[in-house]
Amino acid sequence: MISNPKAIIHLDRLCANYELIKKKFPNKQIMSVVKANAYGHGSVECALALEKSGCNSFAVFTIDEGIELRNADVQSEILVFSRMDIHRLSDAVKNNLILNICDKSDLLEIDNYINNGGISPIFHLKVDTGMTRLGIDYNDAFETIKKLKKYPQINCEGIYSHFSTADEGDLSYALNQLEKFNAILKLADEVGVSFKAIHFSNSGALLNLNQNRMTHVRVGMMLYGAYPSNEVPQELIINPVMEFKASIVQVRRALSGTKVSYGGVYKTKSDTNIGVIQCGFADGLPRPWYKGGFVSFEGRSFEIAGRICMDQFMVNFEEVEPAIGDEVLLFGSNENEKIKMETIANHIDSTPYVISTSIGGRTERIFKD
Ligand SMILES: Cc1ncc(COP(=O)(O)O)c(C=O)c1O
Repeated sequence: MISNPKAIIHLDRLCANYELIKKKFPNKQIMSVVKANAYGHGSVECALALEKSGCNSFAVFTIDEGIELRNADVQSEILVFSRMDIHRLSDAVKNNLILNICDKSDLLEIDNYINNGGISPIFHLKVDTGMTRLGIDYNDAFETIKKLKKYPQINCEGIYSHFSTADEGDLSYALNQLEKFNAILKLADEVGVSFKAIHFSNSGALLNLNQNRMTHVRVGMMLYGAYPSNEVPQELIINPVMEFKASIVQVRRALSGTKVSYGGVYKTKSDTNIGVIQCGFADGLPRPWYKGGFVSFEGRSFEIAGRICMDQFMVNFEEVEPAIGDEVLLFGSNENEKIKMETIANHIDSTPYVISTSIGGRTERIFKD
């Protein structure tokens, strides 16, 4: 049968990846990052499956992503990464979501809100140690922590930061960020401010950097079965959660020298079978992957023939004659085939993060336990 592209989401693999990470950090809470629809995998289904495996901490980017999880009956703690919006504090309280304090002005705004009868949600203090993104500037962090003592009505339970280079071979910058974070924790200890939650990781950091001081290990990409880069140690044997497939909708015999797809940049070198696949860049298949790209069919690799179009692309099946409705594997794995997202990412100078979060369009997600 001809169908839209399919993303089979193997929830059993997601949970197995979680358990591997939990085994590495048995005494820490694993904060599963399920923002951006769980990196394209379906946030509600992934969070519910992870919760069943014992995960009791999640992170999303927006308040609305958090509310979506609550409406689906996710019970665990949920941290919202994005900049706090004073107008949504009551939504955070109603839905038991944890927000960030990431600017000196936030304290004043929250204090004012509470003085006017508002209730404080739980907060984590986000400190910028070198990513130069959201967060209190490192040089202001200590002053802010001291100020927290003056605002006991602001319920700040946690502190965290984010690495910018933890997945690189050269860890000197990341180590410097960690040193800064530890210095802040030391100063907080000295003035008697303690935090129930301390976290500073992503997939690169959990593979590369010491997590001793942390209560939580934040992780996204590794849960979904891809390494954040090819420079990290790869001893944890994770499995790709998404198996991305599409149907073959037409097969024609093309003579040697036939031009295929837009621009005619691909020319057959001999008489061959060219198949049309129903999936294009509008569904998330990266367009640059046509140069040297391939798919898998019945355990064999076949070359992508010509530019990937918006809704379709072509494959050179050589002497093989697939039937209409047969499926090719675009990435992920099944019993006898595997194409890693990392392979595609390396080839097109991208990252698995970009690839997995782009899968959408008309793609149907099918969840398998
Ligand atoms: C603040 C923060 N923490 C943790 C993560 C998870 O990173 P990773 O997917 O590399 O594990 C992200 C992802 O972008 C993030 O923005």
